[in-house]
Amino acid sequence: MGRIAYVNGRFVPHAQAAVHIEDRGYQLADAVYEVWALFDGKMADAEGHFARLERSLGELRIPMPMSRRALTLVLRETVRRNRLREGLVYLQVSRGVAPRDHAFPVCGAPPAVVITCKAVDRAAADAKAAKGCAVVTTPENRWGRCDIKTVGLLPNVLAKQAARERGAVEAWFVDDLGLVTEGASSNAWILDADGVLRTRDTNANILRGVTRRTLMDVIAAAGLKVEERAFTPEEARQAREAFITGAGSLVTPITSIDGKPVGDGAVGPVAMRLRSLYIERAKATAV
Ligand code: PDD
Repeated sequence: MGRIAYVNGRFVPHAQAAVHIEDRGYQLADAVYEVWALFDGKMADAEGHFARLERSLGELRIPMPMSRRALTLVLRETVRRNRLREGLVYLQVSRGVAPRDHAFPVCGAPPAVVITCKAVDRAAADAKAAKGCAVVTTPENRWGRCDIKTVGLLPNVLAKQAARERGAVEAWFVDDLGLVTEGASSNAWILDADGVLRTRDTNANILRGVTRRTLMDVIAAAGLKVEERAFTPEEARQAREAFITGAGSLVTPITSIDGKPVGDGAVGPVAMRLRSLYIERAKATAV
């Protein structure tokens, strides 16, 4: 069975799925998206991703294309038709199709909806995490509304490509103050030299990661100390451990930054423990 996508009300073979050339997402990046991790065919952190989707749309004055309930049914149906158990489901909502004009369409085009999903080999991802991954740093050059999850991702694309060319899985943006904001597609964390878990605060120009939020609860339940406090790449290298979080990476240990080791360069036990605790919680609460 081939892959199936959902495009504006229809389930279509993935290979033939297409949007109109005047979709504003395609021409102007006038669109938002969400990504849910799937465990046993169910969506992890469903509520958090829906809440952020509604917020992103609201900030851009794009209406919800359908109720949350209806959207949930369509997402689930897409997953079901793909017979997917472990993977990711991607939702994109654009301001719709209209003759190209930077300002919003006057005749109120309906928002356009695309859903795709893909399988993830969790055993391979676990093995990769257990080995530890590299990140590189890059100057922050994104717009000032990184709290909105838009498809305008060109700085993230270039940063990720630079990372890949240097054998790293992720790029960490570093702002004018010399502080890490977040990764190109993940939030950044350290376990500092004093044993405190730290990640950038959400007043900074970052995406409010849903995995990050859930991990805060996991950390509290595990009785560990966490602070929303910025760190420099140098502090991250001096830290005991570093890791990233996101729907794609879940919790992935980072063992080198710009080619230099984090702490002693070994995969951290706390990051690995948080990875398994997060996955446990995500599986238990997936819907
Ligand atoms: N990326 N920061 C950025 C810039 C991101 O793109 C993402 C997610 C995160 C983590 O957010 P969450 O925990 O809600 O997934 C942080 C998704 C997975 C992507 O672009 O594919």
